[in-house]
Amino acid sequence: MLDPEKCCMTRFPAPVLAERAQPIETIDETIRRLAARMIDLMIEFKGVGLAGPQAGVNLRIFVASPDGTRENTKVYINPEIEPSGPLEAVEEGCLSLPGLYAKIRRNTQCTVTATDLDGNRFTESAEGLLARAFQHEFDHLEGKLIKDRFSRIQQIAARHRLRELMEEYENPSS
Ligand code: NI
Repeated sequence: MLDPEKCCMTRFPAPVLAERAQPIETIDETIRRLAARMIDLMIEFKGVGLAGPQAGVNLRIFVASPDGTRENTKVYINPEIEPSGPLEAVEEGCLSLPGLYAKIRRNTQCTVTATDLDGNRFTESAEGLLARAFQHEFDHLEGKLIKDRFSRIQQIAARHRLRELMEEYENPSS
């Protein structure tokens, strides 16, 4: 049974981050509380987006804010994504991989179709950082992290930090 208020920031290598998230069947009170909790976590950790698996929940939901503010944060349930435009490599980080930054190639534009908390399907087009955030958060729902998009050289550069995160996960107190 999902207890949204107990959800907390989930970091690599938690298994939920590598799983494909499941569709949300019904938007009920629990899902609304989960969305509120995810927004709180995104604001607390100063992100511009947060996906269900990052809150430890294997469900297809993400929240995103073009400027990282609470008032501009929107909820995207069961999203579909259509990237477009040229590819561009821009430095990205991830709240689930703290301390790791790397240039990731993504499309400069995308269109997202998702369901809101009232159950209405809507479509939104974005470019620049928001388009990047949508693609990054959608990756989370597919069980994919930025490290899975690293080039061979980026993987080598990240090895030490990934090992540290694995050790922190095994020994949370240390
Ligand atoms: Ni992320």
